[in-house]
Formats: sequence, structure tokens, C-alpha cells
Amino acid sequence: MTVVTATASGKIILFGEHAVVYGQPAIAAPVTDVRATVQISPPTQADSDHILFIAPDLGANYTLDNAPEDDALARAVQLTAELYPGSLPPMIITVSSDIPIASGLGSGAAMAAAMFRALGQFLHLPPLHQAETICQLTYEIERIHHGTPSGIDNTVVTYEQPVFFQRQQPTNRIDRLPVGQPLTLLIADTGQRSATKDVVGDVRRQWEANPAKFNQLFTQCGQLTLAAQTAIAHGQQAELGHLLSQNHALLQQMSVSNEALDRLVAAAAAAGALGAKLSGAGRGGNMIALVTPTQQTAVQDALYQAGATNVIPTTIHPTL
Ligand code: MEV
Repeated sequence: MTVVTATASGKIILFGEHAVVYGQPAIAAPVTDVRATVQISPPTQADSDHILFIAPDLGANYTLDNAPEDDALARAVQLTAELYPGSLPPMIITVSSDIPIASGLGSGAAMAAAMFRALGQFLHLPPLHQAETICQLTYEIERIHHGTPSGIDNTVVTYEQPVFFQRQQPTNRIDRLPVGQPLTLLIADTGQRSATKDVVGDVRRQWEANPAKFNQLFTQCGQLTLAAQTAIAHGQQAELGHLLSQNHALLQQMSVSNEALDRLVAAAAAAGALGAKLSGAGRGGNMIALVTPTQQTAVQDALYQAGATNVIPTTIHPTL
């Protein structure tokens, strides 16, 4: 068996986070410049009996047998074992990622997708050569990170395409998103980490306490997503910017923004961004700003001045 390496990208949610958990449509895109990487190699002599996980960035090193309860990497191997004829061979699984964790960029989903891809190659396991299976299994891992994932994160990181997504029974609606003109976005990190599980759980508690208010907020988010789908298809960037800012206002009303996110959103707008909003679960993590190429540097500088710990420029390319 030879050494194999697989990767998966990060993601941003452009429209509809949180509302998507309650069946409203949402739009998300991959961020291909930041990636999770999994390398699998045959065992060396000393660890020949084990499946060994190594995460050099975290200083972590443990075997499958000693993995912490609810460990996502171990769970991915266990799910793979259910598809594998016989028992899994020993192997060394080394993971790394330049996607910041707990920051709304899909680090957990990307790590899981990269893991299943690498296991598929290493084990020559046909089901793990199919995107649909990778997507489903990554969803199972997402359920460890938070109990009620909508399915949008695993979908975007698996297919690495901008998507229009709606959680539905029996199968989710996943449409490729037509993009009429390149969209330049800046992704700015508050430097604050925030667990998706906690924020999604808190929105659920608020929804249960005040269903009328939250159902209305979710519906309004869904309407913005539909309007954004049209604006993106037709390259209506000014309109798209307004819609982003309106979505941020709705997320503020859900109480998932915070002072740092609001500061970055305001700084981007003041520096000439077409629109800006938090992206992902919120209460920390990242925000996104839509810019024209001429505004990009000014907005980027303003974001750093307002306290961003990192700014990643990314372009969503036309698909028409
Ligand atoms: C997290 O990236 C997006 C949320 O809507 C949760 C989900 O869709 O599972 C907050």
C-alpha cells in the first residue's frame, strides 16, 4: 500500500445560515485557498498493529483504540470500517488544516471529507470514490459537531461548487448556482472562536420560546436567498451587496452577531464594500464583504484596522 493524500476546501455561507436548519434555502460557496489535508501511510515497524492518528499542528498523537469519545477522526474510520470487507489494516493517518477551527469556514466538514477521500484511496474502497457517499458520511460526522446540521457544509465542501441548498425530505435540494459575473469577497476573521453546536442550540431555544418571531426571521432570510440567487445569476452586484447587509441585520435580530462581527461589518461598509455580513454560525468566527476589485485594498485595510486577525480574498467565478 502506498502513501495517499487527499484534501477538501473550506466554505462560506453567503445567505441563509441558521434559517437553512429550518428548511429555508441558503447559498454557500467553497473557499478553495484554505484546505484540510489527510495523508495516510502504511505503518512503520513500531506501530504496525494500530490505526494511528497524528495531528502535528495540535500536538496530538493517539491510536483508534485510545481515541477520545466522540472523536471525529475515529468516528470517520469506524464508519469506513462498516463499508470495508474484513477488518481495516493498520495505518498512520496524519491530518493538518489551514482552515481556522470554530470560525464558520467549515473546518470540521472539510477534515471529514478529506479523511473519507484519503481512506477511499488507501483502501481502494469504491463507495468512498463517490461524491454522494463522501457527502453523506461527512454529514454523519457533522452531527458530532452539532446535533442538527442542515447539510449545507458537507455539501459545499464535497462538491466544491457554489450551491443553492434547501434541506428537504426525502432528499435535500442541491442546485448548482449560476454565477453571471465574478464575485470578489473578503473573508475577515474576528479571531474569536465559537462552537457551531452552541450557537445553533441557542437559536433553537429562542425559536422554541418565540416561534412566531423566529419563523418570520427565517422566512425573511429565505426570501433574501431567493433574491440573491437572481442577483448572482445576473451579475447585479450592487443589489447583492444590499441583500448581504439585510441578511446581517436579520442575523443580528437572531442574536448571533456580536460586537466584533458588527464592527467588521460596519468598517467594510464605511470603506466602500457593496455589502457585508457575518458568515456561518456567528458569535465570533468570520464575516464576508462583497467588494469591487477597485475597493478591495481599501476595504481590506479597513478590516485589519477594525481588528480583523486575518483577511482572505476569494473570488467566485462565473459559471454561465
Ligand atoms: C453553519 O456553517 C451553518 C448553520 O446554518 C448550521 C447548519 O446549517 O448546519 C449555522
